[in-house]
Amino acid sequence: MAGQAVLYEAVNVSKSYGSVEALIDVNVQLHAGEVLGLVGDNGAGKSTLVKVLSGVHPPDSGKLFLEGRERRWSSPHDALAEGIETLYQDTGLAPHLTIGANVFLGRELLRPGLLGRLGFMAQREMERAALHELAQVGVEVKGSRKTVSDLSGGQRQAVAIGRAVAWARKVLLLDEPTNHLGARQALEVLNVIRAARDRGLGVIFISHTLPHVLQICDRIVVLRLGRVVRDASTSEFDAESLLGTITGLLEKSP
Ligand SMILES: Nc1ncnc2c1ncn2[C@@H]1O[C@H](COP(=O)(O)OP(=O)(O)O)[C@@H](O)[C@H]1O
Ligand SMILES: [Mg+2]
Repeated sequence: MAGQAVLYEAVNVSKSYGSVEALIDVNVQLHAGEVLGLVGDNGAGKSTLVKVLSGVHPPDSGKLFLEGRERRWSSPHDALAEGIETLYQDTGLAPHLTIGANVFLGRELLRPGLLGRLGFMAQREMERAALHELAQVGVEVKGSRKTVSDLSGGQRQAVAIGRAVAWARKVLLLDEPTNHLGARQALEVLNVIRAARDRGLGVIFISHTLPHVLQICDRIVVLRLGRVVRDASTSEFDAESLLGTITGLLEKSP
């Protein structure tokens, strides 16, 4: 993305869990209006990078810059308040709450204006607002007064994705959002991601479904054993070379 300012950046980031080096000297740049694919085998460090970017784990070393300003998150709430929204790999919706309650869960402190409105908002209005927020980002769920436990796995995932997309103001981090989805639902999620990008968000998309990655991403970063081994425009990959880069098995084969 020549000429476009970097939105969010990790510079020389390392993070270990005890003796496990999950990230080693990682550099990643995310631009506004871009979907960046983050791929790698299990254990490559993808989820750890998401957790560093979302403020769950401070990096052991290295720096984060949001819009050019160095940031040190002391909790995920710090990053959320700055417009960085995350769908974690093992995400938690609250099953016993309605869809509306899930969409607005934990937001009260983050948006004083909305709190003012919500403070007086009837339950029914909140449910309607939640459906509206989800529909705005292309996620259609019928009957928000249902609790999440009434939904199928695919619908739950749709609510989780819709919630993240609806609240994101700058950055959207999606860790395997299409897992557990059927083919058609997965394609719908890809459309939601495209729409988020077109709204100007910077999106990081993690998936093992390489055709989806090739379809939707503008650029791809490949992690292997905690290190970035490739960072290139999607046009420089095809399915075979991408798989080869992920596994390290195709290098310089005749
Ligand atoms: N909470 C944790 N405690 C200890 N080791 C962890 C923890 N989370 C991840 N790891 C290890 O860090 C490495 C990277 O894991 P992860 O970031 O989950 O990779 P990926 O998402 O690419 O599969 C793996 O070796 C994994 O076992
Ligand atoms: Mg992971």
